[in-house]
Amino acid sequence: MEFSGNHVGREGNAALTRERRSRSWYGMADKDGFIRRSWMKSQGFPDHAFDGRPVIGICNTWSELTPCNSGLRDLAEGVKRGIWEAGGFPVEFPVMSLGETQMKPTAMLFRNLLAMDVEESIRAYGMDGVVLLGGCDKTTPGQLMGAASVDLPTIVVSSGPMLNGKWKGRELGSGTDVRKFATAVKAGEMTLADFMATESGMSRSRGVCMTMGTASTMASLTEAMGIALPTNAALPAVDARRMALAHMTGRRIVEMVEEDLKLSDVVTRASFENAIIANAAVGGSTNAVVHLLALAGRVGVDLELADFEISGDIPLLVNCMPSGKYLMEDFCYAGGMPAVLAEIAHLLRPARTVLGSDIAAYHEGAECYNRDVIYAFDTPLQPAAGLRVLRGNLAPRGAIVKPSAATGELLERDGEAFVFETIEELKANIDREDLPVTADTFLVLKGCGPKGYPGMPEVGDMPLPAKLVKQGVRDMVRISDGRMSGTAFGTVILHVSPEASDGGPLALVRTGDRIRISARRGILELLVDDGELVARRAGWKPPPPHYTRGYAKMYVEHVLQADQGADLDFLVGKDTRPVTRESH
Ligand code: FES
Repeated sequence: MEFSGNHVGREGNAALTRERRSRSWYGMADKDGFIRRSWMKSQGFPDHAFDGRPVIGICNTWSELTPCNSGLRDLAEGVKRGIWEAGGFPVEFPVMSLGETQMKPTAMLFRNLLAMDVEESIRAYGMDGVVLLGGCDKTTPGQLMGAASVDLPTIVVSSGPMLNGKWKGRELGSGTDVRKFATAVKAGEMTLADFMATESGMSRSRGVCMTMGTASTMASLTEAMGIALPTNAALPAVDARRMALAHMTGRRIVEMVEEDLKLSDVVTRASFENAIIANAAVGGSTNAVVHLLALAGRVGVDLELADFEISGDIPLLVNCMPSGKYLMEDFCYAGGMPAVLAEIAHLLRPARTVLGSDIAAYHEGAECYNRDVIYAFDTPLQPAAGLRVLRGNLAPRGAIVKPSAATGELLERDGEAFVFETIEELKANIDREDLPVTADTFLVLKGCGPKGYPGMPEVGDMPLPAKLVKQGVRDMVRISDGRMSGTAFGTVILHVSPEASDGGPLALVRTGDRIRISARRGILELLVDDGELVARRAGWKPPPPHYTRGYAKMYVEHVLQADQGADLDFLVGKDTRPVTRESH
């Protein structure tokens, strides 16, 4: 191929009629432009890749340490096909990957670090639009948060769920059945050998957890918010149609750059409300709360925990674990998110999507093919199943509970607290035969908030005491400042804010105290005299820090509480100014 010298754009190319962001990287006939193009050409890209066509970043969280995202290298190829076909120039780049089941102390500690990686990668490199390839729980929100702070045209392609788990003729749901089986082993109802044998049957293909856990919840919400193409959430990871979806997404992002359709045009107050409504309808994860609050902070939408109360009356339509019995593969074949959005269409706020049109057009023509998987709005699986926000002197800035995964009669009662000061104390004592608890006890766990653990892990659904499990107890009230997995279930009150380690009232609770909960009235009260609480506070000391250096130290010093999405204080908002200084 002939060297093109300073001829860096084809004459008459319509692509040059719009001044693109990438031109200040690749469009200059000077030393800086030479250096950037020349080094990119070392990969075999031809001259015309730099002729002014849209440069599209493919932000990939592929990693063998994030098994849920292990299909993303292949999907990136599909995205590239679409981008080339539409006249763009695809460039794939890696960012930190967060393997939910693999990271210690918790992947959530690193969600904001991923967001920083994504934000700075997008800002520093010469791209005009970005496709986010994520899937496992924290990767989708982390990528969206980072991308929102730069605010280019942006679209999501998710990993897609694993195939249904199978074992001895029954279906296995990742996460949800692990917990049930672990309890069954404790109760002597399942052998350890059978428990271990389910391990391989549970994960039969690549992809994210195939229950309506956090990953599939967040993927479902990308459709409810219109930031991915329709069917993104439920198409199985190994379904050929997911590759076609990736291809079509590549085509669409090039058009979005031409239309200057930015992330902030799609992620708006209305789309957040649609996400909150849809999250209730699908029986989605409680983790959606912290992720949506954090994303709202990035785009400047004034979303608060109280806004989640709009979901209280929304019925549960999707019969998927952990709130129901089916799995994501079944959800896909029943019609997936387009069918759900069609059922709740009368509740959805007008909102623009990545298609450029309103959410109403996004699900137009969608049908349900199995009413036992996706219920009709008028005959739901459960009425009024949305998340409940609880407040009171135990949680002045709020706490949440997921009624669809809880035991109804446990949501309206008083009980006596049994307190674990740390996760280590809980693990060392929960199965003691002489643990002084009954089925009516409220288990309370401290030190699991954003600062305390740190990273707000998914330990809020504490294991039940062995002695009660053997008596047939399968649920108890549990209260903490932590989170729980989207695949988990039970009467679990989460995200108590402010957290204990930050001096929240949770820090003052002692074994034997009475606590009142009412999901219906939104109450979480510690029934202890104010004078006694003042005396306890006078004697309270914050726990010593677990980390004294590095990112974790910075995280603890800057992380916001759960009711603000647990983002870092200095990452809230965005900076869309052009980068004008050169590196050479
Ligand atoms: Fe990655 Fe469930 S652990 S999606």
